[in-house]
Parts: sequence; structure tokens; C-alpha cells
Amino acid sequence: LSANNESRGTLVVFEGLDRSGKTSQCGRLVSYLEGLGHSVEIWRFPDRTTSVGQMISAYLTNKSQLDDHTIHLLFSANRWEKRSMMETKMKAGTTLIVDRYSYSGVAFSTAKGLDFEWCKAPETGLIAPDLVVYLDITPEKAAERGGYRGERYEQLEFQRKVAQHYKLLKDSSWKIVDACQPLDDVEKQVKEIVLQHIIACQKGKILSSLWS
Ligand code: TMP
Repeated sequence: LSANNESRGTLVVFEGLDRSGKTSQCGRLVSYLEGLGHSVEIWRFPDRTTSVGQMISAYLTNKSQLDDHTIHLLFSANRWEKRSMMETKMKAGTTLIVDRYSYSGVAFSTAKGLDFEWCKAPETGLIAPDLVVYLDITPEKAAERGGYRGERYEQLEFQRKVAQHYKLLKDSSWKIVDACQPLDDVEKQVKEIVLQHIIACQKGKILSSLWS
């Protein structure tokens, strides 16, 4: 994708079930990296601020009904509308810490019964993460944490299916972190893993595309 990969930013994606602690860990990590003097931004998908994102938000809060394929493509479109900005930032040396990405797209839609390859297809060509941190928690433990906001997918039975489908997506870019540990322990592990990857990317690791 890039002729000059020197000192590029790193794409770090957090994945996991609802209530696995992604948002807190992303926040803590960004503060830590900023403190070390890194150029870093926190992003999240769905990005509910765009017009596509508003359609997604209406669907998630049960204010609208959409066909399963349609909402799948909207989630994907929401990533595509951010792709060029993502590349620009990374080439300028900014590390992006992203709360959910294409893996959520595929895991949640296949958990509803959509075809795996069909779900992956619209994600093809998005920037591949350098690292996926999967915060591993059982659906039961996640539900016990409380704080489900009543959104569409926040139900134990459905989260069980999502957990199974996430497993099919694991590849060599994934690091699994036990998210049942105390938050501080999770944070410590996450920091170590992410720092190693940032150093590797600064040394010129090539930017690649999903799903290659
Ligand atoms: P959030 O709680 O992280 O804002 O995500 C909203 C919900 O949307 C969450 O239950 C996961 C789901 N989701 C998808 O179904 N497909 C996607 O592509 C993404 C990014 C999230």
C-alpha cells in the first residue's frame, strides 16, 4: 500500500464481546502512549458521527429495522468511509487504537446466520491491523459485569454465538488477553504487547490489506 513505510503509525484493533473492557483499555492505552510521546488517536467502529453511522445507531437502539445483509453492509461502509483518513494518519506516523473493526463485522453477522465468506467480502481491501488484541471473557462473566445498555446485540444467548464466531477469525495478528483478570493486570499486558508492535512497525513493517 505504501512506498515509504518509515516510521509509520501502527494499527491496533481491540476486539471482544460487549462488556469485555475494550473501551476502558483503549482509553488507558492511549493515555499511556501519549505519555511516552507517541502520536496516537483513539477511534471506534461503528463511528456513529457520520450519516451511515447514524443509520447504524438507529438500528442498534431498535429505532429502525433493517435486513441482516443491509446492516452488515452499512457497518462495512462505515469502515470504508474512514479508510483513506486511516491511511493518511498512519503514513504521517500516527498510531491508531481502534475499538472494534472488521472482525466484529464478521463475528456478529455470522452469529446471526449469514455466510462467512459473504460477510468477509466487503471488508477486503481495508487496511489490515498490525495487531488485534482480543479481550477474552466468557459471555456469562461479561453479562455479570452489568452495564448492557439495552442495545440490540446485548443478550447472553447471542453473545455466546458471537464468541464462537470470533474464534473462527483468529490469525497470526491476534493476541489473546484474559479479560477476566483485574483491570490493572489486563492493562499491563496490553501495554507490553502494543509497545512491541509499535517498535516493529516503526522499523518498517509493511502495511497490508485484509484479508491477505
Ligand atoms: P459498540 O458497543 O462497540 O459501539 O458496538 C455496537 C454494537 O455493534 C456491538 O454489539 C457490536 C456490533 N457491531 C457489529 O455488529 N458489526 C460491526 O461491524 C461493528 C463494528 C460492531
